[in-house]
Amino acid sequence: MSLLDPLFRQHLDRLDRRHTRRSLLPVHPEGAGRIRRGGRTLLNFSSNDYLGLASHPLLVERAGDWTRRWGAGATASRLVCGTLELHAEVEAKLARLKGTEAALLFNSGWQANAAVLPALFDRELLGAEALVFTDRLNHASLHHGCAAAGVRQIRFRHNDLDHLETLLAQRAGEPGTRFIVTESVFSMDGDRADVPALAALAERHGAFLYLDEAHATGVLGPRGMGLAALGGGRVDLAMGTFSKALGGFGAYVAGSRALCDYLVNRCGGLIYATALPPAVLGAMDAALDLVPTLDAERARLQAMAERLRAAFHGLGIATAGSSTQIVPAITGAEENALALSRRLEERGILGIAIRPPTVPPGTSRLRFALSAAHTDADLETLMSAVADAWSPR
Ligand SMILES: Cc1ncc(COP(=O)(O)O)c(C=O)c1O
Repeated sequence: MSLLDPLFRQHLDRLDRRHTRRSLLPVHPEGAGRIRRGGRTLLNFSSNDYLGLASHPLLVERAGDWTRRWGAGATASRLVCGTLELHAEVEAKLARLKGTEAALLFNSGWQANAAVLPALFDRELLGAEALVFTDRLNHASLHHGCAAAGVRQIRFRHNDLDHLETLLAQRAGEPGTRFIVTESVFSMDGDRADVPALAALAERHGAFLYLDEAHATGVLGPRGMGLAALGGGRVDLAMGTFSKALGGFGAYVAGSRALCDYLVNRCGGLIYATALPPAVLGAMDAALDLVPTLDAERARLQAMAERLRAAFHGLGIATAGSSTQIVPAITGAEENALALSRRLEERGILGIAIRPPTVPPGTSRLRFALSAAHTDADLETLMSAVADAWSPR
């Protein structure tokens, strides 16, 4: 019993009444694209394992091999004695693939965004308050980084670069370094930012461009290494994760050598955290070997997503601006999302309901995420289950 339990319970009851209470439900992986939950095997359309790499033998083997050779933990933070040769090797491999001077590993995508943004918005570095332009649908970790830095976000309408340009022009006379912070693929809508246009905007307004590639890394762009490459060298910082299409865990920042060296000296989330362990680095290294070879899987993934969107549109289901492997089915009300999710589970499909505050009120949805590990038959099963469950008798 804790002192605050009555308040916690009150809060949870309020969430119950609004259909927005969440809980943790253990699952057991049953091979790529499937999980067991509550004694039943379900087709899993809710994971971010877009290439099926989480269970790939090469990742599993290298994670085990590096653990046996290097131990279970890194034993210290990067700046103390936690930088193993393995960190440097993975960072060099990543920078080569991203086509940047340098790369830096972080313990998670959340931690990278939450810690890197405050380091960049540092008044001592910039000499004035940063002017930070952010997409309204940016991920919670990007908001957290801005909040931790104490900056006021200047929010532009989702993916509306005309609006962004207007906001930049309105503040043209004000002092302070401009930052544009956005995602290349939006996690809940599955749509893409126009990276070449963003890069041109950043160039015109002398702004630093920060691109979160969490859902593009492994899936889109040349050799699957994300959309930052389309920015013609004008993306100042690309962050991404190893926790989604790359099948493992951890995150990265890719950019100039000076940027990475600065973060090593100024970024609290890197300085004051224990370095990633050898198992995680082994999985990262194997994923980086595999990803450039998976063009056929990426093409198939996008073709499956196209079929799913067409099927949803045929049923009158809105899919927001999806043009990637993430295909939302917008239900609007929270209880409708929960009810659809339950009906799909009865039909052997895991499609998790996403509700506020993860998405704006009135836009609750089932977020379907496809994986190259899904078979054509899996996709057919999903499409007919949704057709059956969407308008319950
Ligand atoms: C856009 C975006 N950025 C960052 C993150 C955080 O990454 P991680 O799960 O590696 O902490 C996520 C994960 O949900 C995300 O969707």
